[in-house]
Formats: sequence, C-alpha cells, structure tokens
Amino acid sequence: MRQVHRCSAVRERQVQKQRGFMPTAAHYLIAPAALEDVAALRDLAEVCWRATYGDIYTPDFISGFLARAYSELGLRHAITDPANCFLLAKRGETPVGFGQVGPAFHAGNGPMLTQVDLHRLYLHPAHQRRGLGRRLLETLEAWIRAAGHDRYGCYVHSRNTPAQAFYAALGFVHHPGRDTHDELYLVKSLA
Ligand SMILES: CC(C)(COP(=O)(O)OP(=O)(O)OC[C@H]1O[C@@H](n2cnc3c(N)ncnc32)[C@H](O)[C@@H]1OP(=O)(O)O)[C@@H](O)C(=O)NCCC(=O)NCCS
Repeated sequence: MRQVHRCSAVRERQVQKQRGFMPTAAHYLIAPAALEDVAALRDLAEVCWRATYGDIYTPDFISGFLARAYSELGLRHAITDPANCFLLAKRGETPVGFGQVGPAFHAGNGPMLTQVDLHRLYLHPAHQRRGLGRRLLETLEAWIRAAGHDRYGCYVHSRNTPAQAFYAALGFVHHPGRDTHDELYLVKSLA
C-alpha cells in the first residue's frame, strides 16, 4: 500500500516535470475545512500517514490510529469546534493538505508552555517542498494571533527528521522538558 502511494506521488511529479510545470505555494487554495470535506480528508490522511510513518510504525498501528484519530465523528467535531482552526489546502478541487491548531493537551512532563498547539499538518507527498507547508502554517498562525496567543507548540516524532527540519527552519525551538517517550515538543514564539 505504502509503495503504491509513493510510486504514484513520484509518477505525478515526473509527469508535471515533463510538462514543464511545478506548482508553487501560490497555486493552492487554503480555506477552512467543511463538513463535506470529511470523506476526502480521511482518504488524504491515510495517504499522508502511510507515507510519513510507514518506516516508523507498523501498518496495523497506522490503521488503528487512523480509525481513532480520523473517524468521521472526530473530524466533524474537529472541523466545527470553534476552539480549533482546521484548514484544508486544495489544488483545483482536490484536497492535498491540511492543518489544525486547537487547545493544547497535557501530554508529557513539565508545566504547560502553551495554550494552543498545532495538532495536524500533513501534505500529500506529491505536494511537499513547494512552500505549501509554510503557507498553511502562516495562515494557522494568523488565526492563533487573532485568538490572542503569542506562542504555540507541537509534537513531532523523534524519527520524523524531515518535519523536524521544517519546524526548525520556521523558528520552532525544542523544549525537551515536555517530550514524550518518542516525540519531541517544540514551541514557536509569535512575539
Ligand atoms: C512537514 C511538511 C508539512 C512541510 O511542508 P512543505 O510544504 O513540504 O515544506 P515547505 O516547502 O513549506 O518548506 C519550508 C522550509 O522548511 C524546510 N524544509 C521543509 N522540508 C524539509 C526537508 N524535508 N528537509 C530539510 N528541510 C526542509 C526548508 O528550509 C524549507 O525551505 P526551502 O524549501 O526554501 O529550503 C510536509 O513536508 C509534510 O506534510 N510532511 C509529511 C507529514 C509530516 O511529517 N507532518 C508533520 C507531522 S508533526
């Protein structure tokens, strides 16, 4: 399954290169996710999760996690709860990425450092490294600022080094005191 997704992502990039066109961040539409997006979001989450964590977690673990964290009911709640900002990025009519910020959870050790955290940020593999992640995050940050916060945090898996490089490039700082056994806790100041 994972190889199929990776192959199709690579093929899509090759076709686009042959056509001499690679979309930049400006070619994507970012807007709040809506209830009618839920089915497409679940499909996209499956592709993103298997591509991102296929070498980190077992296929069964990923299936179980997706069933829990991306259930239809859970997504409907996450999208409509005003305590969250849940954004979807589309290329044309096709969802290719999503991000969600919302109230911080108390995971790990040490005192809470933030009131809001980034809970999801995932792009389809064929749409990574074009500045879309940065744009999605900047849009989420505008919501965080408007909600009155001057910092936010996120967890990233200790073996997800590409995402760690992304967060470091965008100004996140590691706060080891709130790490969990396999995740690093990062904080970004918006001040
Ligand atoms: C992490 C993710 C959201 C980043 O979005 P993106 O659109 O690919 O990244 P951008 O193009 O906006 O990159 C912005 C900067 O981050 C850094 N960066 C991003 N990806 C990187 C990588 N794989 N390696 C090194 N640096 C990276 C670069 O400095 C980059 O700037 P540059 O392209 O001018 O060099 C996206 O790659 C993704 O969805 N990854 C899989 C899911 C995931 O791991 N999500 C995070 C879960 S905690």
